[in-house]
Amino acid sequence: MTFLFRSDQTRGAIFASAFAEALPDLSFSMDEKSVDPDSVRYLITWTVPDDLDRYRNLEILFSIGAGVDQFNLDRVPNHVKIVRMIEDGIVRMMQEYVLMAVLALHRNLPAYLDQQRRRLWAPVPQVQAGECRIGILGLGMLAQAVIERLQLLGFPIAGWSRSARTLDGVVCHHGADGLDTMLRASDILICLLPLTDETRGFLDASLFAKMPKGAALIHAGRGPQLDHAALMDAIDSGHLSAAMTDVTDPEPLPEAHPFWTHPKIIVTPHIASVTQPASAARIVIDNIKRHLCGLDPIGLVDRRLGY
Ligand code: GLV
Repeated sequence: MTFLFRSDQTRGAIFASAFAEALPDLSFSMDEKSVDPDSVRYLITWTVPDDLDRYRNLEILFSIGAGVDQFNLDRVPNHVKIVRMIEDGIVRMMQEYVLMAVLALHRNLPAYLDQQRRRLWAPVPQVQAGECRIGILGLGMLAQAVIERLQLLGFPIAGWSRSARTLDGVVCHHGADGLDTMLRASDILICLLPLTDETRGFLDASLFAKMPKGAALIHAGRGPQLDHAALMDAIDSGHLSAAMTDVTDPEPLPEAHPFWTHPKIIVTPHIASVTQPASAARIVIDNIKRHLCGLDPIGLVDRRLGY
């Protein structure tokens, strides 16, 4: 039985030593060319290889990242389980990123950076955290981890998910009506949705129009969820105050793209969360052990939902 690692060698070396210790009977390969395809039971990769069919005995396909939107799920045989990466490093980094973005927007950093460039010393009236309502799109594991941290700072928090959820200290909304209610009361809106057919283009002109005047956006979901032109219009017309986005479509952002120089838009190059190999190897090993005991792996993807 083989675990095939299809990603960079540096991370692979860390996986290899963790596997040697924890699952010594499982052979570990980083070489698609020399591996016996029939022996491959587990595969970890960022994209589905073109020749996936050759791994006839594949049982689990692991994504090396948090999302599986880069997989073409139709190409993966039905009996193969698909597993997202849920590991401490990704969670911790997302907490850091969203906290940084919330504080930057809440404390008017885009305005102060712009003023600094213009040698302007001009305090902006400061809203207090208790009056700055945060709305989160998506209430999955990453969002819940982020909420824990934001609650410590005293922001009122609401969240929206596809189906109903209950979370301590969070006003939870769902469905189309719930979405409108939350948007109308979001001074900072954070997108942590997975990319699916339903969420493609989700952050569009009609969504921005429902947000209060002066509200801001943080986007740490996926690039194709955001309509760039609609965001620029919403900001340039004065309806939204600012945005910070870690994801764009395409990535990287083309050189001539107006986001690069926009004083009210902060762009980061898809760095919010990066899989950390040591903790990722631990979770993948645990998942294989679960699978061997007949349990579902943590992060199992529901193919109907696409995440
Ligand atoms: C990064 O975006 C990931 O999916 O891990």
